[in-house]
Amino acid sequence: METEDVAIENITGQRIAVEGGVERLVVDENLQPASILDAPLTATLLDSWISKPEILHIGCGTSLLSYHLREHVETPEQIHNVDFSKEAIELGKRQFMYWDTADLLSLHSILSVCRPASYFLIVEKYCSDSIACAEDILISVPYPLAFVSPPLPPSPHNPLNPTPVRPLPHTPAPHLALVTQPGGRWIAFSYSSLRFPFLTSSPSSDSETWEDAVPDELLMHGFSDPTRLWMLERKEAVEAPPEGGVGVVHRPKVSHWLYVLVRTRKELQ
Ligand SMILES: C[S@@+](CC[C@H](N)C(=O)[O-])C[C@H]1O[C@@H](n2cnc3c(N)ncnc32)[C@H](O)[C@@H]1O
Repeated sequence: METEDVAIENITGQRIAVEGGVERLVVDENLQPASILDAPLTATLLDSWISKPEILHIGCGTSLLSYHLREHVETPEQIHNVDFSKEAIELGKRQFMYWDTADLLSLHSILSVCRPASYFLIVEKYCSDSIACAEDILISVPYPLAFVSPPLPPSPHNPLNPTPVRPLPHTPAPHLALVTQPGGRWIAFSYSSLRFPFLTSSPSSDSETWEDAVPDELLMHGFSDPTRLWMLERKEAVEAPPEGGVGVVHRPKVSHWLYVLVRTRKELQ
């Protein structure tokens, strides 16, 4: 099928390719192409006991991964693309699949577009990286999402103030756990070998691990400990294909990181 590139006007300057009358977004995938996730996606979906597993693609942006995911499922309605960029979601809505604007750091926002325990698979490419670069957020306790066992009430002598927390993936991890089925997976592709510090069993030499832990006072007062919600099934370095053209003499080896997390059976409410 012949591909014709058609320029469209949008704020990010992306192109739309038209294939046989069907439009799809074309983006500069110099981050890494969608196919980089093929093997873990195939393996994970083969593991699913559900006939049409639903996939939540977080921080979809305008990545071709949204379209690529369709090759892994029976019907496009199994794919739900979410991003807080309205522009990206509006562009995506030209296609089948579900598309919604939501902020993964907000429980309210996620629950406005996702049903609890509905997805078998969360998938992302660089979304947690983006979250890790964001400003600190304030979390107030008691948190509206907790383990089924009741949390400690705040002491009247020591009322809890909102606690600043670095918005690392442990911030959305309970939100994503809520909407994922027990035994479901979270496949993440990242620039960082330390993207899920809360899943590290022992502190690494990098001091970031300690700094990035969920503050004890939050855990003591009901913020769900992500280590009880997600287990690390797999973490591996993926060597990025070299960038640069003819004449580039030395290209440093660049590794990206693939993570596969499993949702535990710990219940949330
Ligand atoms: C580095 S881009 C990656 C985009 C795409 N996944 C790709 O591989 O090309 C990170 C994406 O995550 C989205 N994002 C960052 N923080 C978010 C949040 N709190 N809630 C929802 N989306 C978020 C951004 O809008 C952006 O589209």
